[in-house]
Amino acid sequence: MNHKITYFKLLGLTAGLVFSLFSCTKKETESPGNQGEIADKAMVVSAREEASKIGLEIIQRGGNAFDAMMATEMALAVTYPFAGNLGGGGFMVYRMADGTVGSIDYREKAPSAAYRDMYLDENGEIIPELSTKGAMASGVPGTIAGIFEAQSKFGKLTPAEILQPVIDLAERGFVVSSRQAERLLKLRETFIEVNGPETFFGKEIKGGDTLKIPVLAATLRRIAANGRDEFYKGETAKILAAHMQSKGGIITESDLADYEAVWRDPIVFPYKDLKIISMAPPSSGGVTIAQIFGMIEPLSIGQYPFHSPEHIQLLVEAERRAYADRNFFLGDPDFVDIPVAELTAGEYLKSRMESFTMEKATKSEDIAAGEIAFAESMETTHYSIVDAEGNAISVTTTLNGAYGSKLFVDELGFFMNNEMDDFSSKAGVPNMFGLIGAEANSIAAGKRMLSSMTPTIVEKDGKLWMVVGTPGGSTIITSVVQTILNVYEFNMGMQEAVEAPRFHHQWLPDLVSFEPNSFDSVLISNLKSKGYQIMENNNPIIGKVDAILVLPSGKLEGGADPRGDDKAVGY
Ligand code: GLY
Repeated sequence: MNHKITYFKLLGLTAGLVFSLFSCTKKETESPGNQGEIADKAMVVSAREEASKIGLEIIQRGGNAFDAMMATEMALAVTYPFAGNLGGGGFMVYRMADGTVGSIDYREKAPSAAYRDMYLDENGEIIPELSTKGAMASGVPGTIAGIFEAQSKFGKLTPAEILQPVIDLAERGFVVSSRQAERLLKLRETFIEVNGPETFFGKEIKGGDTLKIPVLAATLRRIAANGRDEFYKGETAKILAAHMQSKGGIITESDLADYEAVWRDPIVFPYKDLKIISMAPPSSGGVTIAQIFGMIEPLSIGQYPFHSPEHIQLLVEAERRAYADRNFFLGDPDFVDIPVAELTAGEYLKSRMESFTMEKATKSEDIAAGEIAFAESMETTHYSIVDAEGNAISVTTTLNGAYGSKLFVDELGFFMNNEMDDFSSKAGVPNMFGLIGAEANSIAAGKRMLSSMTPTIVEKDGKLWMVVGTPGGSTIITSVVQTILNVYEFNMGMQEAVEAPRFHHQWLPDLVSFEPNSFDSVLISNLKSKGYQIMENNNPIIGKVDAILVLPSGKLEGGADPRGDDKAVGY
């Protein structure tokens, strides 16, 4: 296999770099970039080394991917409270070693007292911060229901066995990274404002400090002893509901008691000889990546050099069209009829690309299915697991914003989500990320808010090939697509594909964003000359992809995103 040379390298940039690219070879992928962790049997890749290690330890003790899910998810709640959670929700897609696939939805739900205009004042205007900060911002959490449902159906160990190392970790403590300390410092005043001066994260925490969370250890110990009902019907539920109400929220004990995770059929579609398995609504991820892959397939994206204008244009134009549909049609399938088959049909996708040309950018206003757009937060987390039996799971979980609503339940040791902001509070009015929402995603009691989380598993030639996902709000979808294409069409290894710079377009606003300092000015000028509007300032990093690739030898290569403290571990 020859790695395709990037557009910039074709432009003759830095002979030394070109030399180094071709002088280091890799046995498994022959790809010139960085190689990730290689393992023979099993691997866990997550946002924190401790969480990856605990997940792997559970597998080494005879557990499988579903046992490791429970351990990893809870270890992230301890060591990565930025997004790891008990007070949030998520989605998991699985592929068993025998090829059976499925998925579970443990997305948060609107409380029973929620209603369409709950974030509007008497003049119909959005009340600032009500859906983003404090108790009113939270949906009913789904995480404990999700991990218990998955583990009880497919796992091999007991929750008590799985949770013990996590309880030990919360008691023993973990070392705070400098990235974490910076974020905690930035939000310290907000934690105090929302929770009072004595709140746990109101104290000064520095990089290198060991942080113990004994109250979370106690909550986990009760859950380990009493099972998922401890969280939804037991002492924990009582404390949680009372706490939320004391802070002006509306989540009740009966909202918690009524919460159920839901098994859903995943979205499964082909791309050339790949079979891609991803999350169905209420995540938009699976439908939207199915549309993007379906639109680019006939146009052979792999014929263009990596990050050439043609590569970028083709993907951007498919994204533009897919996101226009996404924003108009998608919501909670238990509340809204979603024409999934029609949206992903080959003929339809072909017709969507009829207006595409390499000569100039399509205008989003010419594509629009409605005058609406959306966004979710960037602060989610993803982990990928392959166990020693060959079962694979792909899990994306979130509190929505960084540390969710910033409401920390001090009696229980975890943050609550601000997932209610993922609903459209008012059609046409921007949410906390400056974007606007759709009717299909309006608020109703018991409804799940639309998500972009895209936990995905890919088969090649009928065998497990890749497990992939990322945080990044609306950029999740385009990051997952690019990571798969980087390996499949541009011959990269897993780590290299994860590290490669990313770009993003989501129909509205009609802007292409590029990660900072990663794309050449000649490329940008070329795109501008064709009418593309480029986001020039404040470009954020896009996603933190954690993925696993099955190499031709059967070994596993991890891709842990250096944009975070992410870590792949395997054996
Ligand atoms: N809250 C981020 C998402 O669900 O996409």
